Amino acid sequence: MDIAGGMIDVARQRYCMANTTFQVADAENLPFADSSIDGVFSSMALQWCRPLDKVLAELFRVMKPGAGGTLAIMAQGSLKELNLSWQRLGECAHINTFEPQATMYQAACRAGFRCSATQQRFISWHKDIFAVLHSIKDIGASVLINSGGRTLSRRQLQQLQACYSDSFAQPEGLPLSYEVVFLRIQK
Ligand SMILES: C[S@@+](CC[C@H](N)C(=O)[O-])C[C@H]1O[C@@H](n2cnc3c(N)ncnc32)[C@H](O)[C@@H]1O
Repeated sequence: MDIAGGMIDVARQRYCMANTTFQVADAENLPFADSSIDGVFSSMALQWCRPLDKVLAELFRVMKPGAGGTLAIMAQGSLKELNLSWQRLGECAHINTFEPQATMYQAACRAGFRCSATQQRFISWHKDIFAVLHSIKDIGASVLINSGGRTLSRRQLQQLQACYSDSFAQPEGLPLSYEVVFLRIQK
């Protein structure tokens, strides 16, 4: 399930298997009956649903008693290299923040789940700032690239590349960190 039709088209092409169906829908308004779902898994999508309470209430509604699942959600500290570079350039409009693990955990408890949470850092490596920004676009954080609909100027990009490289470049390239919370929930 994804709210974007294009994402569902890609998933359908790549993972077309027996016993699999794909659906365009909003995680905050699940098109499933009460107590009808045996298990849930979500990958890197729910950071865009804030606060998480609405999604968690929906999950609690549709899951069968005893059903469980894991939600992998981008958390506070993600994209820190990019955020720090923007900050150093005084461009706070481009900074994207994410919720901390404790906030997600508390929301899951509030929704009625028994839950536990762990966090893991993943680092992706990129050859230049264009590749960094392209990867950000892929995860849906285009707000980092466009401020108020304005595309970044060549000068802004050059400044960003210089600042990012000075502060973070390694032999592997430019790092971009992802903090991922794995929220395990059981109804
Ligand atoms: C980084 S992509 C992850 C896609 C896929 N789950 C994966 O792991 O490859 C984030 C996805 O969250 C989806 N998304 C954002 N808000 C959503 C919502 N309210 N309901 C369902 N999907 C949503 C976006 O459309 C986007 O495809």
